[in-house]
Amino acid sequence: MRNNSLRIAVLVSGSGSNLQALIDAQKQDYFLSEIKIVISNKADSFALKRAEDAGIKTYVIKDNKDLRKLLIENDIDLIVLAGYLKIVSEEILEEYENRIINIHPSLLPKYGGRGMYGINVHRAVFESGDKESGATVHKVTNVIDGGEIIMQNKTDISDCKSAEEIQKKVLKIEHQILKNAIKIMESNYKI
Ligand code: GRF
Repeated sequence: MRNNSLRIAVLVSGSGSNLQALIDAQKQDYFLSEIKIVISNKADSFALKRAEDAGIKTYVIKDNKDLRKLLIENDIDLIVLAGYLKIVSEEILEEYENRIINIHPSLLPKYGGRGMYGINVHRAVFESGDKESGATVHKVTNVIDGGEIIMQNKTDISDCKSAEEIQKKVLKIEHQILKNAIKIMESNYKI
């Protein structure tokens, strides 16, 4: 199977630990693709500092029309949502159909959908008494957290005493599966 090197844009809103996992993986030639730009809707996102330290161009964009223009100008092949908390517009979903992926901190379809992001997810899992949780990389569609699942991995949480403990365990899984999802997208990419 021919692999392709993809021009990647990573969209962030928070601390950027998933972005950092991708930056580190790229440095280790874990995948062929290259993170060309990092975009946040929040100027104070620490993820922007991580990108700058890695020599990656960063942008703060609030409007979806500006976002679409920037993606096209940079000839982006693949969009990675890594803790990005804004809804992507219909235009961008159409323009990049099957070429937007998101990392979600639960075993979708469980604990997905509107309002299910960040610690909210882990609180719901903790209250459910589930013995395992995990993370999912999925394609982004107009159904929140509803797109085709690309990769998923589980972790035992039976010893976790709080939602925060679950979050810590799941974040490690996120970092593992996101870089692997990039490799899967490289082999599936249809030029
Ligand atoms: C992660 O938990 C991710 O699953 C969710 O938002 C969080 C982002 O964390 N989408 P970070 O900014 O990558 O550290």
